[in-house]
Amino acid sequence: MHNVLLTGGCGFIGKYTALELIKNNFNVIIADRKITSQIPSVLYYNIDVATSELADVFENNKIDYVIHLAALPSVSAAIENPLQDCHDNYQATVNVCYLAKKYNVKKIVFSSTAAVYANPKYLPVDENHPVSFLSPYAITKNASENFIKYCGINYIIFRYANVYGSGQDAFGEAGVVAKFFELMSHNKQVKIHGNGEQYRDFISVSDIAKVNVLALTKDINNQIINVSTNKKTSINELFDVLKCELNYKLAPLYVDARPGDIEKSILDNKKLISLFGYTPQTDVKNGIKEMAIKKEAF
Ligand SMILES: NC(=O)c1ccc[n+]([C@@H]2O[C@H](COP(=O)([O-])OP(=O)(O)OC[C@H]3O[C@@H](n4cnc5c(N)ncnc54)[C@H](O)[C@@H]3O)[C@@H](O)[C@H]2O)c1
Repeated sequence: MHNVLLTGGCGFIGKYTALELIKNNFNVIIADRKITSQIPSVLYYNIDVATSELADVFENNKIDYVIHLAALPSVSAAIENPLQDCHDNYQATVNVCYLAKKYNVKKIVFSSTAAVYANPKYLPVDENHPVSFLSPYAITKNASENFIKYCGINYIIFRYANVYGSGQDAFGEAGVVAKFFELMSHNKQVKIHGNGEQYRDFISVSDIAKVNVLALTKDINNQIINVSTNKKTSINELFDVLKCELNYKLAPLYVDARPGDIEKSILDNKKLISLFGYTPQTDVKNGIKEMAIKKEAF
């Protein structure tokens, strides 16, 4: 059995990825500084992965692969506290890569983001689109991508579109779906920034977890790959789907657009489909239906 170090494994995407790894017979070791519920077969390290504490994990376990998800995944938190963003996003990645290289890890899988395309020059955005930035988060994610390429271990860098699903923190900033879902389930008013016509490519967390594990099982290395549905959903459309699923009666409150927010984003997923033979399986309507059926935290 191969050992996989999963950083940020107690987070939203991390929990789904851990279960998918176990399903595929990997032995999972999680390093996270906020350990919540625990999966019995998993070994947990309650550490900050950007610090020297991480060395013990490599020293005490033979790590075959790393899936590096630990991050401060928030544009507004990064704008408010760029040093924390630098620590959790860039320094953590440098530390993970340095140790992965030192201990001969076979491959690192990194969770980057569509934020590195800023406001795209063309849509859908493919992986050859130039990178830019509207926030410190995009800067540190792109710097992390560059460090991974520089450090000389096999890698797969995924640029995820907007990820959603049960268990996402409704009070964090990453998930508009989670936030709307939470407010609308409790019949509270939803705020829409701007006119709501801005759109995104929403990808289900179950698809993300499957793709993270495929990156280990496929003999494909040193690629940057979008993980997306290649479909657009505006914030107004998202609101309407949730309204219908949750039988919500209130109108949304339109407020000022937020600085650093991307206006339009759809990610081309041809590379994912051709290299991995995987087409994301859940569209946003069905994904939200599943959330409404589950209606409880993951
Ligand atoms: N959720 C999305 O829509 C989305 C989109 C694109 C990319 N991503 C990326 O996917 C990854 C996972 O995102 P998520 O939504 O699960 O986030 P999350 O906030 O739910 O999980 C992140 C986890 O990392 C841990 N962590 C953060 N900094 C750490 C540190 N220095 N040391 C140890 N643990 C640390 C946190 O405790 C948390 O458990 C992130 O890298 C994020 O940037 C997410």
